[in-house]
Amino acid sequence: RSERSIKEAGPPQTPHHVHVLSQLQDMFELSTSQLQRIVKQMLWDMNRGLEKDNEAIKMLPTHVCHLPKGTEAGSYLALDLGGTNFRVCVFTLDGKGGVETRQSKFMIADAVKTSEGAALFDFIADCVKQFFVDHQDTLSNGVNHKWKLGFCFSFPVNQVSINEGSLLVWTKGFTASNVVGENAVKLLQDAFTRKSLNIEVSALVNDTTGTLMSLAYSKPSTCAGMILGTGSNCAYIEKIENIIKYKGSREGISEMLINMEWGGFDDTHIVIPRTKYDYKLDSDTPTPGTWTFEQLISGLYLGEIVRIVLSDLADQGDLFENCGASPELKKKNAFETAYMSKIEIDNSHDLIKVKQILEVQLGIKHTTLIDRRIVKSVCALVGTRSARLAAAGVAAVVTKMNKLATPGCIVGIDGSLFELYPNYQNRMRSALVEMLGMCADNITLEQARDGSGQGAALIAALAEE
Ligand code: GLC
Repeated sequence: RSERSIKEAGPPQTPHHVHVLSQLQDMFELSTSQLQRIVKQMLWDMNRGLEKDNEAIKMLPTHVCHLPKGTEAGSYLALDLGGTNFRVCVFTLDGKGGVETRQSKFMIADAVKTSEGAALFDFIADCVKQFFVDHQDTLSNGVNHKWKLGFCFSFPVNQVSINEGSLLVWTKGFTASNVVGENAVKLLQDAFTRKSLNIEVSALVNDTTGTLMSLAYSKPSTCAGMILGTGSNCAYIEKIENIIKYKGSREGISEMLINMEWGGFDDTHIVIPRTKYDYKLDSDTPTPGTWTFEQLISGLYLGEIVRIVLSDLADQGDLFENCGASPELKKKNAFETAYMSKIEIDNSHDLIKVKQILEVQLGIKHTTLIDRRIVKSVCALVGTRSARLAAAGVAAVVTKMNKLATPGCIVGIDGSLFELYPNYQNRMRSALVEMLGMCADNITLEQARDGSGQGAALIAALAEE
């Protein structure tokens, strides 16, 4: 495998550079047996999380106990908060598995993410108003209709019912004050009241749960929903008797969706080898020492890991030897994860796209072909590690559900990494085959585009029933 990653970018030509790269490979590459150990630990942590609160993997009951029948019908509003953009949508379910969508996307500024809670929720309510302005021509039910809404709030929530739950901790760079410990539905409902919006929040939903539900609307053998985007997480169907810590009524319930919050995996029992670069990244987050698995996998962090590696290599004199790092490369978050995709897809002989990103976007005065090859290899190492860890997560979840031996388990996956990152899906697939052999054939990884909002709308429809 060592040889393979070097070849992906073409061999760097000096023995010194070969040495530098092979050291990086030793740090970032995960062998099959390491992956298998990770799966084993994750299964152990999943069982712990189902027994008790406050475990590394939180295993949160969602209060969603049925998959959609495919016959749900009607128009529902949905909000999707927690990814790169904030989205407001109306989904019209036709009762036959079909859906019509209207949506508006809004950039959510860092200042809003880190402001006061009420300001964040006011921003959301203002976007909803704007949505109705944007769609006034096509939406026969305007802003004055009494809307039911599914709120996809993609953070760890301790849910006490389908439309009530308090935020346990912010993730993904959100830090708005006075929200942790509060009922997210009430905060939203209060903002609607302040802004005179006649909307009832009928469901509070995680994006993973939404993804699972929306794919299950058309494909009933969906058994898990996963996000590989700004953040990373998974929801799956668990037998109610296994959810030992669940305190609600179990009458008539045989299963419930569990929002794992797997981003917190590896915070306490460390099985994933971490590099000095990962520790550096972690120390600059709002909550160091937590949300490790997500940091190693998800789009919010991958570009920053690459930036830290490149900047360190430049400081050591192993990269950009002619000019050193640029001030831009030294800036936190200056290396977007989207650059990694563009770099990895550049197969031109001179790595022209890589040159452009490094020299134009990142202001490095002069790059050699060797520099560019090293940069491409670093992206491949960080991107591959992410895909292999995500695959380990899939292996754990499918094993937990006992779905390995029989064909037909569909894992719905949403998010830019899975959708857009070159080779990500192949890398996940090969890791699954390495870990599970022939049983990997029984698992389908399926793109579930924009499922979270639609799932929230579906859950609002089910809540009404
Ligand atoms: C973070 C959130 C989680 C969400 C995931 C993907 O891990 O804590 O709730 O599902 O990001 O958006």
